Amino acid sequence: MPAPARYGPPDGNADFRGYSQLVAATFGADPDAIAGWLADLGTANIRVLRNNGDLQAGLSIYTMGQYFGGRSVPIWGLAGVVLPPQRRASGLGRELLTACLREQHKSGPPLASLFPASTHVYRALGYEQAGCRLTARVRALDIPAPAAGLSSRAVSAGDWPEIRRLYAQARAHDTGCLDRSQAIWERLRRVPPQGMLQGLLIEGAQGPEGYLLFTLARRDGTLRLDMTVRDWAFVSPRARDALLRLLWVQRSVVGEITLQLGPNDPLLQGLCHDNNAQMVEHLVWMLRVVQVPQALAARGWPAIDAEASFTVTDDQLKENTGPWRVRLRGGKASVAKARAASVRMHTCGLAALYSGFMAPPALRRAGLLQGSDRHDAALAAMFAGPAPYLLDFF
Ligand SMILES: CC(C)(COP(=O)(O)OP(=O)(O)OC[C@H]1O[C@@H](n2cnc3c(N)ncnc32)[C@H](O)[C@@H]1OP(=O)(O)O)[C@@H](O)C(=O)NCCC(=O)NCCS
Repeated sequence: MPAPARYGPPDGNADFRGYSQLVAATFGADPDAIAGWLADLGTANIRVLRNNGDLQAGLSIYTMGQYFGGRSVPIWGLAGVVLPPQRRASGLGRELLTACLREQHKSGPPLASLFPASTHVYRALGYEQAGCRLTARVRALDIPAPAAGLSSRAVSAGDWPEIRRLYAQARAHDTGCLDRSQAIWERLRRVPPQGMLQGLLIEGAQGPEGYLLFTLARRDGTLRLDMTVRDWAFVSPRARDALLRLLWVQRSVVGEITLQLGPNDPLLQGLCHDNNAQMVEHLVWMLRVVQVPQALAARGWPAIDAEASFTVTDDQLKENTGPWRVRLRGGKASVAKARAASVRMHTCGLAALYSGFMAPPALRRAGLLQGSDRHDAALAAMFAGPAPYLLDFF
C-alpha cells in the first residue's frame, strides 16, 4: 500500500486522534469537547502534515460564506492551526499553510479568513488584517429603560429556520459577517455542560423581527449572574427596542452583560448612555484573496460606474500575479486581465482593500499600495462600505 501523502486529510483514526489531542493540548481545552467538535466538522475538513506516520501539524476548515458588498462570497475559515511545541519555528507552519493555499487555489473557494494568534505568520503568506470582532460589556443597571413595544416569547425547536432568516436579513449588508454554515450554527448552539442556552423571539404583527440567544452563569461567591449573549439580531427599530428591553429586564438578577457587536451598530445607540459600554476585547481577523478574479467577481459592489486597473503580486500563487482590471457598470462587475497598470499592491494590500478595512490613503501610508494615485478615487468608491466586522469567532 502506498504511504499517505505528506499533506492531506487525516489518514484514519490515528491521524484524527493525534490532531484532536494536539488541538486540545495547544489551546488547553477539554479533549472530549475538541474531539466532538472535530467529529462534527468531519475529517474531510481537516488537513495534516505527516512524516513516516508522525503527525507534524494540522488545521481545520470551515466551509462557509462571508458578506462583502451585500453578497455572500464563499470562503474557507481556518481554525485550529497547530504544531506540537517541539516542531514549532522550524518552517512547518509555513509548509502546512502554503499547501493549504495551493489546494484552495486549485479546488476551493476564492477567499480565506482566520483569527491570527500571530499576524506575522499569516502576513508572510499574503493574509492581511481586514476587520475586527468587538466584545462589549455593559452593566444591566446602566441600560436606559426602553419603552414597551413588541412582545416576545421563548424560542422553540421549530424557530431555528426563522432565526437563521432573521440573522441573514440583519447581517447580509454588514461587511465581513459570516454567511454561517451548519457547523457554525451548531457551534453557536453548543454551550458548556453546566450552561443552558436560552432564546427569546421578538414578534411583530407580520412575524418575528428579532431574537436574543444567551446563557447565564453565577459569578463566583455572589448571587449575581452574568449574561453572555451568544447571538442576537433585529430587523426594525421597534425590534431593537424590544431587544434592549429584554436585556434591561434582567437587571434584578444579572450584573454584567457581554456581547459582540459591530463598530457602528445601531444597538449601541440604545444600549448605553454616557458611553458606559466597555469594549473589553478587540480582535482583528485576517483575509487572504486566494483566487483574485473569482473573488472580485463574487462580491457585491456599489451601484456605480467606475473602473480601475492594478497590478497584484502574489508570492505563493503566481496565477494571481499580474495586472487586473475591474469595470463596474451600475454595480455589475467585469473582471479581466489588464495589459498594464500603474498601481501596485501585494495580496496583503488587496485583502485590506477588498474588505474595506483600509481605503487607498491608509493603504499608501501602510506601504500596501504603490504607484500612480490616478485610480485612488475610483478604488475608494468601488470598495467603500460599512466598517468590516465579524460577530463569530472560529
Ligand atoms: C503558529 C504556528 C502554527 C506557526 O508555525 P511554525 O512552524 O512555528 O512557524 P514557521 O516556522 O513556519 O514560521 C513562519 C514565520 O512565522 C514566525 N512565527 C512563528 N510563530 C510565531 C509566533 N508565535 N509569533 C510571531 N512569529 C512567529 C517565524 O519566525 C517565521 O517568520 P520568518 O519567516 O520571518 O522567519 C505554530 O508556532 C503553532 O502551532 N503555535 C501554537 C498554536 C498557535 O498559535 N496557532 C495559531 C492559531 S491562529
